[in-house]
Amino acid sequence: MVRRPKIVVEPPGPKARELIEIDRQYLSPALTRTAPLVGYEAEGVWVRDPDGNEYLDFGSGIAVTNVGHRHPRVVETVKREVDRLIFVNSCDFYTIPQVHLAKKLTEITPGSFKKRVFFVNSGTEAVECGIKATRYYTQRYYFVGFINGFHGRTMGSLAFTTTSPAARRRFQPMMPGVVHAPYPYCYRCPLGHKEGYPECGLACLDYLENEILGHVAPPDEVAGILFEPVQGAGGYIVPPAEWVRGLRKIADEHGIVLMDDEVQAGMGRTGRWWAIEHFGVEPDVVLISKAIAAGFPFGACVAKAEILEWGPGAHENTLGGNPVLASVALTVIDIIEKEGLLENARKVGEHMIKRLKEMQERHEIIGDVRGIGLMVGVEFVKDRRTKEPATKERGKIVQEAFKKGLLLLGAGKSSLRLAPPLVITEEEADVGLDILEETIKEVAGS
Ligand SMILES: Cc1ncc(COP(=O)(O)O)c(C=O)c1O
Repeated sequence: MVRRPKIVVEPPGPKARELIEIDRQYLSPALTRTAPLVGYEAEGVWVRDPDGNEYLDFGSGIAVTNVGHRHPRVVETVKREVDRLIFVNSCDFYTIPQVHLAKKLTEITPGSFKKRVFFVNSGTEAVECGIKATRYYTQRYYFVGFINGFHGRTMGSLAFTTTSPAARRRFQPMMPGVVHAPYPYCYRCPLGHKEGYPECGLACLDYLENEILGHVAPPDEVAGILFEPVQGAGGYIVPPAEWVRGLRKIADEHGIVLMDDEVQAGMGRTGRWWAIEHFGVEPDVVLISKAIAAGFPFGACVAKAEILEWGPGAHENTLGGNPVLASVALTVIDIIEKEGLLENARKVGEHMIKRLKEMQERHEIIGDVRGIGLMVGVEFVKDRRTKEPATKERGKIVQEAFKKGLLLLGAGKSSLRLAPPLVITEEEADVGLDILEETIKEVAGS
């Protein structure tokens, strides 16, 4: 018998409501809060609230719990390591797991060239490290980012983040020197090409080359191009391989560093270690966080050795590379390898996309289905011809599915990002997809 979500009291139940009330009084309302879930217990693909409701997790805490919640080997690693050593700071001293992890990361990231690693505590910090190292190495001023991209919220990474005005309003000046080019969001071409790829001839790449580099940022003054190999917060948007290869070519021609933000798309989510591998491109810098330590704050910037060969004191942090979390990261990598999670992400992802495309035939509100592996986007529209975003309806779908025990996350103006843990089975994915379709039917009346 395949397990299903269990709703014993309409959420939020009394215990959850009490807690949310206290949260309202004390926590900053800057957090958007998708649904009134109070996480209490979890394992694998299941999360329980304090009222006894059990939810199927289709979001993995934004692509974090790739090996599943509280994988027994992760729990065992934490207990073992905490019993031995919790902390020695890495700016001044050395620890064993950090060294092993750095070596392993250089082996599993693309490119057989010599690499170096810098450890951090979050995605935004991985990006900051990449930006700083790139500027230091090239001694150039400009960076290219992309419209609708998300790279974090600190002043350097935020300078690249353009998913919504709310993220940027009242925060200028951010780090100067960042110019934005259109991303190949082909379902809604930012350059207005109705015919789409490949008929457009990759106009967005031409725009970057001829308009941005031709008029705004002279290419010999551009330090780096920072991009997501699949846009995450922007709506799980997969670019054409030719575009990614085009970025590599432009970078090579002008001595620009190609910076691959794998914070959300990496660690096996797309069925390969790194999403960029689907496009046959080797970046110069890879930025990693989220799933690397199964929910603990951790991250890394992995780069061609020369880019991270800045002098002592050029960049440091106190908590980066914590030995317990570095051990967890080694365990996470081993789980992904030993349990065949890349293969499972590919298999279940294909199954989900196939089923969602069938659903699209039944429900006018589904404008687009896209994705790679278990990074699957579903975009809702009010009208397939005008493509008017069905933002309210998307919100309602998230809320109503939650009441039925399915955890969904939104992305972009009117998309869902389906990103279950990579351990999910086809049967569990079907349970979630059945709930999703039932909810779409109710909300859209289709
Ligand atoms: C692609 C990408 N880069 C960077 C970040 C920032 O990571 P963090 O929230 O850990 O700072 C995110 C977070 O969602 C992300 O999706």
